Amino acid sequence: MKWLGLLGLVAFSECIVIIPLTKMKTVQDTLPEKNVLKNFLEKHAYRLSRNSASDPKFTSHPLKNMQDFFYTGNITIGTPPQEFRVIFDTGSSVTWVASVYCHSPSCSAMIRFNPEASNTFHASNQSINLSYGLAWMKGVLGYDTVRIGNLVIVNQTFGLAKEYERLIVSKPVDGILGLGFPKLAKGTIPILDNLKKQGVTSEPVFAFYLTTQKESGSVVMFGGVDHSYHKGELNWVPVSKPGFWQIAMDRISINGTVVACSCGCQALVDTGTTMLIGPSDAVTKIDGFLQPKPSEDSKIPCKLTSTLPPIVFTINGIDYPVPAQAYMEKKPLGCCREEENFGATRTLRCMNKEKTWVLGDIFLRLYFSVFDWKNNRIGLAPAV
Ligand SMILES: *[C@@H]1O[C@H](CO)[C@@H](O)[C@H](O)[C@H]1NC(C)=O
Ligand SMILES: *[C@@H]1O[C@H](CO)[C@@H](O)[C@H](O)[C@H]1NC(C)=O
Ligand SMILES: *[C@@H]1O[C@H](CO)[C@@H](O)[C@H](O)[C@H]1NC(C)=O
Ligand SMILES: *[C@@H]1O[C@H](CO)[C@@H](O)[C@H](O)[C@H]1NC(C)=O
Ligand SMILES: *[C@@H]1O[C@H](CO)[C@@H](O)[C@H](O)[C@H]1NC(C)=O
Repeated sequence: MKWLGLLGLVAFSECIVIIPLTKMKTVQDTLPEKNVLKNFLEKHAYRLSRNSASDPKFTSHPLKNMQDFFYTGNITIGTPPQEFRVIFDTGSSVTWVASVYCHSPSCSAMIRFNPEASNTFHASNQSINLSYGLAWMKGVLGYDTVRIGNLVIVNQTFGLAKEYERLIVSKPVDGILGLGFPKLAKGTIPILDNLKKQGVTSEPVFAFYLTTQKESGSVVMFGGVDHSYHKGELNWVPVSKPGFWQIAMDRISINGTVVACSCGCQALVDTGTTMLIGPSDAVTKIDGFLQPKPSEDSKIPCKLTSTLPPIVFTINGIDYPVPAQAYMEKKPLGCCREEENFGATRTLRCMNKEKTWVLGDIFLRLYFSVFDWKNNRIGLAPAV
């Protein structure tokens, strides 16, 4: 089960705290902040490597930035191909789309797969239920050809949603393409395994470049790394527990002071989560190090954002600073107490015990990420 979410808001139903700090930005605020962020990243000088990718088993696939909330890309399923807008999600392993059997109100705005219109579709009688905290789907599994750009995966297991509910309104998305490990695949064969078994790509990697604010320009690439999207060398981090793309983190510090994760901790690298998420006690502690300290509802005056220090995530000996311009989110979000407002009723899990962090899109916009499924490692480097 992917408890962290498709939607950043899922966090609230799980009693996880968002790295706080929100304020509606005006257009005037946005521009200087972007420059600050740019300067901040340019301070770390990196040589630009050459684009190495020109390979038929490589695809660099455009993603659409849905207001920094999530990213969708188009895939097709079936023969002739039917096209769907999906989230490429490293935080789950099952792939599914809405189907013509779905009559839930949430399905009405979705493009729905019609198995009868595909001559490569194979049915199964296996049902599948997925829960995302503030959204859930019920459906049946089937097999068909999935295409991502020029890459073709045959006989891919995927879910055909027959019922789909979400408790908050979201942007159009027809399903999810799960890029996690088999352990989370609920007994199905995930895309990752088929990429491997079917030799779909020559290199055993996929990678994400996520833009900030701009709708276009984001990409997911399979089968290689276009090095023009990052600065400097990739720093590789072993996956500590294949299931999620989970890694060990050394510490989290502000101004040279360790503020959380002092004895090391675990973090999930999750393209399907909007936010940076941490255990609530750690986030409360971080709040205490911020000047000005965010209010009860995690806000500070907008213009003071630039006075806040970066939060530095140290992973495998390398510092990954996240400046305030990135962790101060526009969206009016808060802590677990907001949960009631969204009427979340799914099983709740409190992260206080797990102590696992989630490096979501806020982090991944700053750091280009490469997921290597052969060597079970993640490469990170500052994004251009
Ligand atoms: C996906 O397809 C839709 C409809 O064909 C199109 O509007 C959208 O721009 C495409 N998205 C991307 C990321 O190419
Ligand atoms: C699914 O179940 C029905 C009856 O329950 C059976 O007739 C059909 O052959 C099964 N299909 C598959 C693909 O197993
Ligand atoms: C999914 O939910 C349906 C209806 O609630 C149930 O009949 C089915 O057994 C569930 N399937 C799985 C795999 O949990
Ligand atoms: C498709 O894959 C499933 C397992 O995921 C397997 O049981 C089935 O035999 C495969 N079908 C074909 C036509 O390869
Ligand atoms: C961090 O350091 C800066 C100057 O280097 C200082 O202005 C600021 O107050 C410090 N913040 C904290 C939380 O210690």
